[in-house]
Parts: sequence; structure tokens; C-alpha cells
Amino acid sequence: MTTDNVYITTPIYYVNAMPHIGHAYTTIVADVLARHFARKGPTFFSTGSDENSLKNVEAAKRAGTPVQQYVDEMALHWSAAWDSLGLEPTEFIRTSSEQHRKGVHHFWREVVARGDIYKGTYQGHYCQGCEAYINQSELPEDRTCPLHKTKLTELEQENYFFRASKYRDAVLLHIEQNPDFIVPESRRNEVVNYLKHHFDDISVSRPATEWGIPVPDDPSQVIYVWFDALVNYLTVIGYGTDTEKFRQWWPADIHLIGKDIIKFHCALWPAMLLSANLPLPRQIVAHGFFTVDGEKISKSLGNAINPIALMAKYGNDALRYYMLTRLPFGSDGNFSLEGLQEAYNADLANGLGNLASRVSNMVARYISGQLLGEINMMRYIEFLGEVRARTNRLDFKGALDYIWSLVRECNKRIEDTKPWVLAKQEGAHNKLAALLTELSCDILAIGEALEPYMPNTSHKIAVSFNFDRIKKMEPLFPRLGD
Ligand code: MSP
Repeated sequence: MTTDNVYITTPIYYVNAMPHIGHAYTTIVADVLARHFARKGPTFFSTGSDENSLKNVEAAKRAGTPVQQYVDEMALHWSAAWDSLGLEPTEFIRTSSEQHRKGVHHFWREVVARGDIYKGTYQGHYCQGCEAYINQSELPEDRTCPLHKTKLTELEQENYFFRASKYRDAVLLHIEQNPDFIVPESRRNEVVNYLKHHFDDISVSRPATEWGIPVPDDPSQVIYVWFDALVNYLTVIGYGTDTEKFRQWWPADIHLIGKDIIKFHCALWPAMLLSANLPLPRQIVAHGFFTVDGEKISKSLGNAINPIALMAKYGNDALRYYMLTRLPFGSDGNFSLEGLQEAYNADLANGLGNLASRVSNMVARYISGQLLGEINMMRYIEFLGEVRARTNRLDFKGALDYIWSLVRECNKRIEDTKPWVLAKQEGAHNKLAALLTELSCDILAIGEALEPYMPNTSHKIAVSFNFDRIKKMEPLFPRLGD
């Protein structure tokens, strides 16, 4: 891969229900990063649907629909949801596709060739919500999953196992030698602890039912859903089907995930890759969780908020702004409709929206849309440099806060200098033109900085604050009806 290529992934989501704001958050972050890096070079942003899970089979049963038809319909809903949110993944991978199945078979055979698959009997406690066995050493006394609050199922099965323990030390060493491999640091420590104390060989198949990817050469078993799902990061870029494309993009630069699935991504996945003789991703970034009224959002807890409805009311950019400023990198945050409304009114409508429409109006009215020739390039470059640096550090809240410090400063400058008074003063024209030029340059810089974060707003600003002639702007964030 050339150094400029950037490959960013989101988890592939279970399609047993519609997306909620938690899923939207990860996908929005990936979209921001993809737009940010696309300014420098070729960028690939993948997302998709995790379809071979038992959850989907159950949901299809409940809906009274054949599984394939159910996941076909749901995958369409999910990809349409990303579309309406203005998210632009390069590809949407579906794990029930032929492309994915071929890649998974190829991967399985590589791991078999390394001698890392063996047959054994597994007895353990399974959580269907996690689609995972709970380690004996981590088993809660009440046999209830701490995350999903559901009873664990006791299972005994003849399965294939992956010799994960063989790679424990190599993965630990990699983590130690690459401090940025897992961020934030708190998550890295959690993973190191897990690898040291709980990471063992893992069952990677189950007796075949009608759904799932069959084990190559043994159709009596299907591949365990995580062992198949993780491979999506390879198959979406052509592993096992398009070698040249695969070479162009692998290894991934950033796997974006929520903190719930770090063990799979930071322990199992690197072990799988080492076994298949593939380079490890450069970085795994685990973000925190949104709560609603302090409770985890989930399909099963039933407090999911539909991002599409919010988008229809507030617009995509407002939703992006609110979510990205609510969740400082690595921490959890609370989502509330009142909070969104408040951010919309204060920061967007009265903050940036008001600034852009006031300045464009004044430039049109007082100086006929014409700015002075000189602009302060240093100020512009420094401002954009700082926003980019914060984005590179994945400090999305920091980047937006920095942009808004300029928004507030500009609004204050207008209040302090009162251009409408200058407009009435004899001989103050040059001063007024200089002031409005400076404000317009700042708005232009704000628009440019917002490009990955709020693409629609950024575009509108660029169109209106065109240096040849500034045009009066329609309100960027119209007042909300009820
Ligand atoms: N299918 C697996 C992932 C396989 S990846 C090889 C899965 N799917 S999921 O539908 O449950 O999605 C989990 C992901 O959704 C989380 O890791 C996170 O990215 C996102 N979120 C789900 N709930 C969330 C919040 N409440 N807050 C923020 N993000 C959350 O796990």
C-alpha cells in the first residue's frame, strides 16, 4: 500500500433491528475520518451488516420471513439509513454474500494450513446477545450476562477450535511495542489484562443449522459468527476474490469500534491475522457509549432513538455536531432530545447560523458584496492547522470546540465593533470594509474546517462566501417548528 492510502472500518452491525443512535455514532465518526483523510489521498471507508448471527435467525422467525429474505430486507434498510444520514461508505459488506463467503473460506484454509484449527468438545455458558461463550473465569454467579441481563445457556458441543493461545505472547508484544495500536489507553490496559488472564483457545464452529457459513470440507459445522464477521475487514477489500485490491488497502489504518467489542477486535482478531500470516491493522479505536437517561441504549432494552427521525427534524449536520461534541474521545456521554435542541438553538442557529447570515447580509448591503484584496493567510492557515491536528488526534469534540471558539469570537467582534454604526459614519468606509473582510475570511476558514464534520454546512458557506462576490445567505439552521 502507498503511504497515502487510508482504510477505515466500522463494525458490521447485526440487522435484527433498525439502527439506533449508537450505531449511527460509530458510522458518523468513520464518515468524518474518511472525509478528513480523503483531502490528502485515496480513502476507503467500509461498513456493513453481520448477517450470519443467530439473532438474525430468531428475528426472521419472529417476523415470519425466511432468513435470507429477512436479512436482504434489513440490509437494505441499514444501507438506506446511512444514505439518509448523508454517510458515504465506499462499500457496504454483507456477510451472507458470496464475496464474503469465498474470503472466509480462503481465510479458514490458511489458518488450517498453519495447524491452528483442531476438533474438540466444548462445554460452556453462551450468551446469545454477545454471540459468545463467557469464560469460565469470568462467569457470573447468577449465570446472567452482565451486559444483556439475560440468562446464559449451558451448551456442550463438538466444535472446531482455533489455537488462539499460541498467539497470546505475540499479540501482547505487539501491543507493548505499538503504544498506539489500541486507544484509548484505558482500553489497552483492559485488553492486556484479558490477554494475560483469560485469553484461551476458542471454539470457532457450531453444529450446522440452515444458516451460517459452512466449515470448508465439513458441512456438518458452520463457522462461529465472530470468526466469520471479523473477516469482513478483509473480504470487503477483496481478500480471496480480488488480490490487487486487497493489496492496495490492507492493513486497515483504523478499526473503529465501541468499547463493547474490544476483546474480539484487540485479542482474537490480531491472533487470527497472525495465524493467517497477515499484517495487523495499524490502530483500533474504541469509543465510549451513549446512554439515554443514564441507561445503555440497546435493542433489547428498548430505549433506542431513531436517528432518521432526528435527521428529518434537525438535519444531518446538527445531529453530527451534537453527537460529536457529546462524547469526548473515549468517555461515555448522555444523549437527550433537550440537549440536541439546545445545541441546535444556541450553537448552530444563534451561533454559526446567525454569524454567517449577518455577515453575508452586511457585506452585500454595505460594501456591495466586494471584499478588500488582502487576507490574513497566516491566521487562516494556523486555524485550519489546529483543527486538523485535533482531528488527527481523534479529538473531534476538541476540534469542534475550537471552531466554535472562533464562531463566538466573531459574533463578539460584531457586537463590539457595531458595523451598522460604522456604515452610517462619514469616512468609515475603509474601516468597515476591512472589518467585514476579516469576518468573511474567518467564516470561510470555519466553513473549510467544518468540511469533514458538517459537510452540508461547509458547502453552503463555500458557495455563499465566494471571494469574487459574497452572496446573502439563507439561514443555515432555520428555526424549528414543533
Ligand atoms: N456484529 C457485531 C460487530 C461485528 S464487527 C466484526 C456487533 N454488532 S452490533 O450491531 O451490536 O453493533 C455494535 C456496535 O454498535 C458497537 O461496537 C458500537 O460501535 C455501536 N454501538 C452500539 N450501541 C452503542 C451506544 N449506545 N453508543 C455508542 N455506540 C454504540 O457487535
